[in-house]
Amino acid sequence: AIDPEFERNREAVDENDGVTVWGPVDEPEQLGIHGTHVAVDFDICLGDGACLEDCPVDVFEWVETPGHPESERKAEPANEVQCIDCMLCVDVCPVDAIDVDAG
Ligand code: SF4
Ligand code: F3S
Repeated sequence: AIDPEFERNREAVDENDGVTVWGPVDEPEQLGIHGTHVAVDFDICLGDGACLEDCPVDVFEWVETPGHPESERKAEPANEVQCIDCMLCVDVCPVDAIDVDAG
């Protein structure tokens, strides 16, 4: 499962259109955690898609990740600022790849 303490245990190494990437990153096999308020561990995500289907405010967008051992697409929390902390995505992800910091 995603480490809920990732902000303490990892370093921000990149930013994709405003979404912070927490390393380590070693493409294409290791992609890190994407997002901060809504965080997706890309190295755990297996492209299930339940988060995209269920999020009421469309926080997630598919991104292609060819060559990643778990899956070739991931759920990018591109609109994490829209999150209303309903926690649905956390509940439906089959591999616990998502952390929402509802504070
Ligand atoms: Fe969407 Fe709710 Fe997850 Fe926020 S907590 S990203 S609103 S499903
Ligand atoms: Fe990935 Fe879990 Fe969403 S596997 S696509 S983060 S439901």
